[in-house]
Amino acid sequence: MSNRIAVVPGSFDPPTLGHLDVIRRAAALYDTVHVLVVHNPDKQAMLPIAQRLSLLEQSIAEDGVVGEIVVASWSMGLLVDYATDVNAGVLVKGIRSQVDVAYETPMAIVNRHLAEIETVFLLPDPAHALVSSSLVRQVAGLGGDVAPYVPGAVARFLDTGSRGI
Ligand code: PNS
Repeated sequence: MSNRIAVVPGSFDPPTLGHLDVIRRAAALYDTVHVLVVHNPDKQAMLPIAQRLSLLEQSIAEDGVVGEIVVASWSMGLLVDYATDVNAGVLVKGIRSQVDVAYETPMAIVNRHLAEIETVFLLPDPAHALVSSSLVRQVAGLGGDVAPYVPGAVARFLDTGSRGI
């Protein structure tokens, strides 16, 4: 497995500026970054997987992220199975708070036990430290403006969607 190939996994429901920050910084650290949309059974989804893939692709292109980026989804089993398939040795996650540390630590340990894949945690740009997909879902669902928290492509999509167009 290559330590030059990384996977950035998540629900991305929807992608936020915090996600884009982590993707941009992972792309600067690794030769190839797989941005992987994974269904999280613990969360009630807002967007279909195909929509999240499309929004991620548009957001990454519009941001001008430099590097080899693969946007994909995975629903065939363990996250580490995808990582092994693409020869990735590293998972990259953003950590905003102690709550994220508590949530991510057991997953990182299990993923290392399962397949000897390391997890690297990146601290967020403070500008995005309080942004979460769940907050965006709530604000968008109640008709609020989410433009400060999400990439332009996501803001346009949610704005159009919330007006039923
Ligand atoms: O953005 P999220 O919802 O915090 O992402 C969580 C996700 C999807 C990365 C996590 O639920 C996950 O890794 N799911 C894959 C299933 C798996 O491999 N589970 C066992 C090890 S944790």
